Amino acid sequence: MSTDKQGIVAVVPAAGVGSRMKADRPKQYLTINAITILEHTVNKLLSHPQVSKVVVAVSEGDPYFPELSLSQHPDVVRVKGGNERADSVLSALNYIQESGLGEWVMVHDAARPCIQQGDIDKLIEAALSHPVGGILAAPVRDTMKRGVDGQIDHTVERANLWHALTPQMFRTLPLQQALTEALEQGVSITDEASAFEWKGASPALVAGRSDNFKVTQPEDLALAEFYLSQNKE
Ligand code: CTP
Ligand code: MG
Repeated sequence: MSTDKQGIVAVVPAAGVGSRMKADRPKQYLTINAITILEHTVNKLLSHPQVSKVVVAVSEGDPYFPELSLSQHPDVVRVKGGNERADSVLSALNYIQESGLGEWVMVHDAARPCIQQGDIDKLIEAALSHPVGGILAAPVRDTMKRGVDGQIDHTVERANLWHALTPQMFRTLPLQQALTEALEQGVSITDEASAFEWKGASPALVAGRSDNFKVTQPEDLALAEFYLSQNKE
C-alpha cells in the first residue's frame, strides 16, 4: 500500500516551554552541534522521501522560530501552538484539513532529534497496512514499581509494557475528529494514540530504537549530542 501522491504531512509540536530542562529558552531552541534541536528534528523529517511538508506548532510571539532559516523553507509551515501538547497538534491538524494538505499525518515531538530514517520507514509501512495507524514504541526494560507515598506498593508486570515514542502516524481526518472530541470532553490526551484508545480503537505498536528518546532534562543534552554525532545521515 502507498500514500497518495501528496505524501505524508509531518506535524511537529514545538510550543512547549521546557520547564524540566531549566534553560534560558524552550529546549527545542537549545543548540547541539551548531544547530537547534528543532532544526535537527525537522531536517530528519524533511529529508524522508515520503514526507511532503512539515507543519510546526509554535507559541504565539515566540521570538526564536523566525530567526531560523527553517522558517523560510518552502515545505515548512508555522501554525499557532496551544496550552497543551494536544492543543498544539490539533491546531496543526485543523490547518492541514482546511488546506487539504494530505490524507496521512505523522506527529513527531520537536524534542526527539535522534529519530532515524529506518524507524520512520518501519512506522510508515506498519501504519499504512493497519486499520487505525500506529506508533513507534520501545519495550520497557527495567522492573516496574507502582509507588504509594514514596514506597513500593507492588511490582507491575513488565511483559507487554511499552514506552510510547513518536512519530505516531494516523489518517488526518479520524485523528482530528478523535482529538477534537476528546479535548471537548476534558479527556487527558498525552499522545495521539490515546485519542484513538479513548474511542475504543487499538493502534499498532511498532518496535523502534530506544535512542529516539525525548530530550527532557539537562543531562539528556550530552546523550542527544552523542547519538546525533554517531548517526549523521
Ligand atoms: N508541546 C507543544 N505544546 C505544548 C506543550 C508541549 O507543542 N503546549 C511540545 C513540546 O514543544 C515538545 C513536545 O510537545 O516538543 C513534547 O512535550 P514535552 O517534552 O513535555 O515538552 P515541554 O512541555 O516543552 O517540556 P516540560 O514538560 O518539561 O515543560
Ligand atoms: Mg510538557
